[in-house]
Amino acid sequence: MAHKIVRFAVVGTGSRGNALAEYMRERPGEAVVTAAADPNPEALRLFAKSLGVNASNCFGDWHDLLDITDEFDAVIISTPDFSHAEPAIEFCRKKKHVLLEKPMAPTEKECRAIVAEAKKSDRVFAICHVLRYTPYTEAIRKVIDSGSLGTIQCVQHLEPVGFWHQAHSFVRGNWRSTKVGNFMLMAKSCHDLDWLQYIVGAECDRVSSFGSLGYFNRENKPQGSADRCLDCGVEADCPYSARHIYLDSYDRGEREWPLDVLARPVTREGLEKAVKSGPYGRCVFACDNDVVDHQVVNLLYRNGVTASFTMTAFTEKGDRRTTICGSRGELRCDGEHVELYDFLSGETKDVEIGAAEGGHAGGDFGLMKSFVSAVAAEDPSLVRSSPEASLESHLIAFAAEKARLEGTVERIVR
Ligand SMILES: NC(=O)c1ccc[n+]([C@@H]2O[C@H](COP(=O)([O-])OP(=O)(O)OC[C@H]3O[C@@H](n4cnc5c(N)ncnc54)[C@H](O)[C@@H]3O)[C@@H](O)[C@H]2O)c1
Repeated sequence: MAHKIVRFAVVGTGSRGNALAEYMRERPGEAVVTAAADPNPEALRLFAKSLGVNASNCFGDWHDLLDITDEFDAVIISTPDFSHAEPAIEFCRKKKHVLLEKPMAPTEKECRAIVAEAKKSDRVFAICHVLRYTPYTEAIRKVIDSGSLGTIQCVQHLEPVGFWHQAHSFVRGNWRSTKVGNFMLMAKSCHDLDWLQYIVGAECDRVSSFGSLGYFNRENKPQGSADRCLDCGVEADCPYSARHIYLDSYDRGEREWPLDVLARPVTREGLEKAVKSGPYGRCVFACDNDVVDHQVVNLLYRNGVTASFTMTAFTEKGDRRTTICGSRGELRCDGEHVELYDFLSGETKDVEIGAAEGGHAGGDFGLMKSFVSAVAAEDPSLVRSSPEASLESHLIAFAAEKARLEGTVERIVR
């Protein structure tokens, strides 16, 4: 039987729209893009050109896609966070399969509305929780499913955001404030909260949380500093100096992210201009940021497993690190390697991890492969999260943030 080629419309042809469409560029025999929408004409033009999308199926306003729904089977929604809910709901109503970027939406009400519509539509619906789809996660799940860890009792999970990454994205950049974006757990750590429930294999019952914006604020502004790094008398001693993070990196030969956020193409002149007068040249102690720079969340799952999660700016930028404590062994995971210590034998063994293809340690490719297979077979069980499971991880994030702000222990209300 001929294999069905899945036809996609892509709403939002920026960084994530392009990253996910890489699958269609590489595997046109499995999936193609037949329509796209983005209010940025240049982003749309470049995207359409690279994927061979007819100009007649490209729109500045995604609502126009609703008139050509015969032209595609599935939709990728990769617009900014605040603009996910309406297209997600509309395309579910049109009985399209939907792949929606995380986070689903900034409010619990919108998340619930999206999931209700997804369930009604009875099509494939997935959130881009890419960590579920990496060969690294597959290896961890395989150990857990094999029983060699025994039963999981507790988990420790660390997200080392990294000092300069925090300064770039969450102090100076687009994710710095709940007024223009989302709170930190939703913006950065909703992947982790989703991943933990996938690893633990149970719904979360209760959460508590503590955390603050303890460092990147006016109180810690050094004496003699200025509001912009290039005017600052003490920046040479500051690890967060924009000169250090951007200009010195360029001089060392770096050309990619995050430099390309400041200047495209990445040139010394472009970076100097951005550091001199743009938001990325501001002193980290004199920005309009309000998201936390460190936070802990304690979680109790319905199967009695406990987990502690820490997100922190104050590390080298690196991979997430996890210890999974079972009744028969300890699984130590550092983002690249996984090793199992067996209590009975006293031996430690490396766990084999499959090769990763593409971005997010193979997560983007794995997600697209599963989603395309699920749509081709019209079998939602081929993706690794149901609409309910995705809602669950968002509810945990909302509850944990409430617990942090109000000093309470929150029950997850479904
Ligand atoms: N899964 C992940 O690991 C991951 C990683 C990064 C970002 N994200 C999420 O992906 C989404 C997109 O982020 P990005 O980094 O690609 O941003 P981006 O700014 O690079 O791209 C967003 C695109 O959407 C377009 N757009 C804005 N409003 C639109 C509308 N109403 N209709 C159609 N297009 C519209 C913009 O013009 C832009 O081209 C966000 O929700 C973000 O949080 C997910």
